[in-house]
Amino acid sequence: MSTPQTSHIDRLRALPKAEVHAHLEGCFEPLVLEQWAARAGVAMPRPPDRLFEFTGLADFLHFLDWACGLASTRERLAELSYGFSKRLADSGAGYADVIVNPTHWKAWHGRLPEMIDAIDAGFSAAEQDGLPPVGLCISLLRTQSSDAAAELVDTLIALRHPRVVALSIDGNEAAAGRTGPRFAEAFRRAGQAGLRRTVHAGESSGPEGVRDAIELLGADRIDHGVRAIEDPELVELLVDRQIPLAICPTSNLKLGVYASIEDHPIDRLRHAGAVVSINTDDPVLLGASLEGEYALCSKAFGWSDDDLRALARNSIEASFANPDLKARLIQALSSW
Ligand code: ADE
Ligand code: ZN
Repeated sequence: MSTPQTSHIDRLRALPKAEVHAHLEGCFEPLVLEQWAARAGVAMPRPPDRLFEFTGLADFLHFLDWACGLASTRERLAELSYGFSKRLADSGAGYADVIVNPTHWKAWHGRLPEMIDAIDAGFSAAEQDGLPPVGLCISLLRTQSSDAAAELVDTLIALRHPRVVALSIDGNEAAAGRTGPRFAEAFRRAGQAGLRRTVHAGESSGPEGVRDAIELLGADRIDHGVRAIEDPELVELLVDRQIPLAICPTSNLKLGVYASIEDHPIDRLRHAGAVVSINTDDPVLLGASLEGEYALCSKAFGWSDDDLRALARNSIEASFANPDLKARLIQALSSW
């Protein structure tokens, strides 16, 4: 028999929605990492029972280098991608934009086309098995140079891979400083070439990072963006332009942006008229599921079914899915 709690989760799982902020880097299963490390003769960074304990964003990003370094074969990348689609289906999402940052994947450095091809193989196999489609957002790291950014954009433009929907930027803004100007030209060229633009800001940066994402990087979507709440004029700008924020509550708690869900500004941003969506960021490493994130917020902020439907609608509309798929998901949402 299902308890009221499980039936609530089941309803949230059934809510038609998209995931628009998740990193492939955040999808390693602990046992798989242990196995790969043992086979490669690589030491674990800490004991298995504390493997996914992070002190903050810098420590977390460092861990990504270690974990991604173990994904050295085409099969491993394809498997990881297939697993992402499977998890998506289990959470009731009909589409995802997934971020991949090549800097973390040491075995693939200098071989981006091959890397994208391996990931694409996993997502294509998943789609053939009836799992949801996924678009790839290839990401710069905040601490990279403008030359490295130009090189990545050159490669993406030359490749024109149908799986790649966007240029992204992630990493640690607190470590990099105010780097909007450094990446402006790369983002301008990506936009001109027809790529969408999604920008991590307002997580490890304050509101100034969000403003730069809009004004210097032409962001179609902001990943996190939560610290925009500290600047009312910036919130007004986000509302006026209806630039979506791809918010990840559990990630913000686990990586120390906010101390508790009650302190999290998602509900205040929503009430101010910002377009907010709910996402997982790094689901396995941070212990977040998409339906679990909806449950966490709906409990903390007392959201109604209409609120949940509006948030799911935002996620679909903010996604880089093709218009037909978006229309189908919106249609399905109306009968939830
Ligand atoms: N890469 C993976 N997760 C990230 C996050 N939360 N912030 C910045 N870069 C990331
Ligand atoms: Zn992220």
